[in-house]
Amino acid sequence: MRYDLSEVNAVIRDRRTIYPEQFSDREVQMDMVRQILSNATWAPTHGKTEPWRFVIFSGKGREKLGESLKDLYSLDAGEEGVRPAKLTKLMRRMELASVIVLMAMKRDEKKKIPEIEEVEAVACAAQNAMLTACAYGLGAFWSSPKFLYNPAAAEHFGFETDDKVLGLLYLGYPEVDWPKSHRKPLEYVSRWVKE
Ligand SMILES: Cc1cc2nc3c(=O)[nH]c(=O)nc-3n(C[C@H](O)[C@H](O)[C@H](O)COP(=O)(O)O)c2cc1C
Repeated sequence: MRYDLSEVNAVIRDRRTIYPEQFSDREVQMDMVRQILSNATWAPTHGKTEPWRFVIFSGKGREKLGESLKDLYSLDAGEEGVRPAKLTKLMRRMELASVIVLMAMKRDEKKKIPEIEEVEAVACAAQNAMLTACAYGLGAFWSSPKFLYNPAAAEHFGFETDDKVLGLLYLGYPEVDWPKSHRKPLEYVSRWVKE
């Protein structure tokens, strides 16, 4: 055994989505954010394209992010229109989390790796980030408002049309008891073929 498996099991099972509404106002230190995102970059990556990109918003940067989200949401809302309650919740979250990371997939120029695999690699990176946050005792929430998937959103944040924004990672110290969850037993989601 190369590592203490009980610790590995614990951090994987204890990782929980904790929402910004459940964060205290204690600020997350930037060296923690660096560690969280550096670990993210150790995710597997087919063809070593390393497609993950992060834009980190903190301090007044969160106001800028709020403005961007408001514009992108309005642009996407179309006939249905902006739902004021949804917008208010979104804007409030800019204040509730001291750090918000925009996670994106940068498409390799040669496009030799299928797009789905590049997205998968970034999802693996996100999991590394969330596990590291959990180890620090930080809450993390991967939020994926639909309007962020629009090419307009990628462009807005300085990416190109083939790149994709995959969501926001809110980080903060939980103010609530660490949430509990459950998963279906492995038997429900697996088939073992032995012969
Ligand atoms: C790709 C992805 C996108 C997600 N987007 C949202 C979201 O937009 N809103 C939300 O409430 N939760 C979102 N979640 C978090 C899930 O709701 C959460 O993982 C689920 O409730 C299980 O809880 P747990 O993370 O504590 O195990 C997302 C999770 C993933 C993997």
